[in-house]
Order: sequence, then C-alpha cells, then structure tokens
Amino acid sequence: MLGCMTDWASWHLQYEDPGSELSQRLVAVQEQIALALQRAAPGSPRLLSLCAGDGRDVLPVLAGHPRGRDVTGRLVELDPVLSGAARAAAPPSIEVLTADAGSTAACAGAVPADLLLLCGIFGNVGDADVARTVAAVPALLATGGTVIWTRHRRAPDLTVRIRSWLSEAGVEEVAFATAPGSGWSVGAGVLRARSAPMPTPGGRLFTFQAREG
Ligand SMILES: C[S@@+](CC[C@H](N)C(=O)[O-])C[C@H]1O[C@@H](n2cnc3c(N)ncnc32)[C@H](O)[C@@H]1O
Repeated sequence: MLGCMTDWASWHLQYEDPGSELSQRLVAVQEQIALALQRAAPGSPRLLSLCAGDGRDVLPVLAGHPRGRDVTGRLVELDPVLSGAARAAAPPSIEVLTADAGSTAACAGAVPADLLLLCGIFGNVGDADVARTVAAVPALLATGGTVIWTRHRRAPDLTVRIRSWLSEAGVEEVAFATAPGSGWSVGAGVLRARSAPMPTPGGRLFTFQAREG
C-alpha cells in the first residue's frame, strides 16, 4: 500500500510550530546536511532524498550553503501536492520526481549519491524494510558520501539495530542526535566501504504502512 493513504500534507503542518518535536528534528537534520556538504569532495555533490516531502529540510540548506549551488540530484515524493511544492522551491539543478521512492526504479540515474536523505521513512515501514533499505545504502551512496536518517525511539527502540545494520554495511556513524525521551532521532554516517550494485535491481526497498492522520 502506498503512502498516499495518509494525509502527509497535513502532517507537514507540524512544521509550522517552531516548538514542535518535528521542527526540532528538522533543525537536527539541517545541521547534518550542512556538515555533509562541508565534507563533500570538490565538484558537484549528488543528492538523493527519498520520501522528500516538500523538501523543506534540504532545499533551504542548499540555498544558504556555500556548496549549495554545486549540488545536483533528485527528490522523490509520492504526494503530488508536496512534490509540487518541492519542485517550486527547488533550483534547476534539483529534479523532483512524483514517484514511489520505495521502488529502486526511482533511484535509477541518481545513484550513487554523495548525500542520501532517508528522513521520515524508518518509522513508517516494517523492520524488514528498514533492514533492506539500510543494506542498500552502499548501492545508493558513493564511498565517502553521507546518509542522514531519522527514526523515533519508541519501544522497542529500533535505532539500536539500525545503527548496527549501518555499521555492518560499511557506514561509519558521525552523528546520532536524539530528542529527550523516546522521541525523534537523527543519525548521520559516512560510507567507508566501496559502493556496490543495487542488491534488488528492479525491486523494492520499502513499502509505507497505512497510517491515520
Ligand atoms: C514522514 S513524511 C517525511 C517527509 C520529509 N522527508 C520530512 O522528513 O519532513 C513521509 C513522506 O513520505 C511520502 N511518501 C509516502 N509513501 C511514499 C512513497 N512510496 N514514495 C515516495 N514518498 C512517499 C509522504 O507523502 C510524506 O511526504
């Protein structure tokens, strides 16, 4: 079942409150995006954001960062309202696809990326899908590239396993920021292993679970 069952445009309204948990998570994500751009090798870093929403995490950072104009790449978002908003805000170097990001087809031509955003995905898919997506990081990311991911820490806290899976995939953790309690977490890691072919070419990384609200 694809993610359009949920009203994700309404979900984004939580960002309008700067004190909301989601707004605090956004700050943590944007900090890691800026640091990743600083770390990126000279040239044109390639961006891939899956389930990108309206792009409010990465697009403002690109607009204000000294490396931002160099960045090329793709945002993939299924909801046409949100992808339309992202497209309107994106510079010409950033393509916005209205597509199912859980299909590896949505990544074709945009990988390996130097900056991979997996934000707002791991709390909405099954554990096996999280594991499969993490295992695909070496195919989605170039060596030396950064993956930024998010996940709540409600029991049973899957972040422990996600961090371990990332390490097994050759990703060295460079940051793990958390909200108090069992709220959000934001992880960032750099792929130290060699980039690899897609483990499931023409297949699926994840399928969003239906949610209310
Ligand atoms: C939790 S929100 C995260 C949005 C954004 N990454 C952020 O962190 O603000 C999940 C997003 O995934 C989108 N989505 C759901 N299923 C999808 C799919 N199969 N392919 C692409 N996007 C999807 C939703 O429309 C929504 O914008």
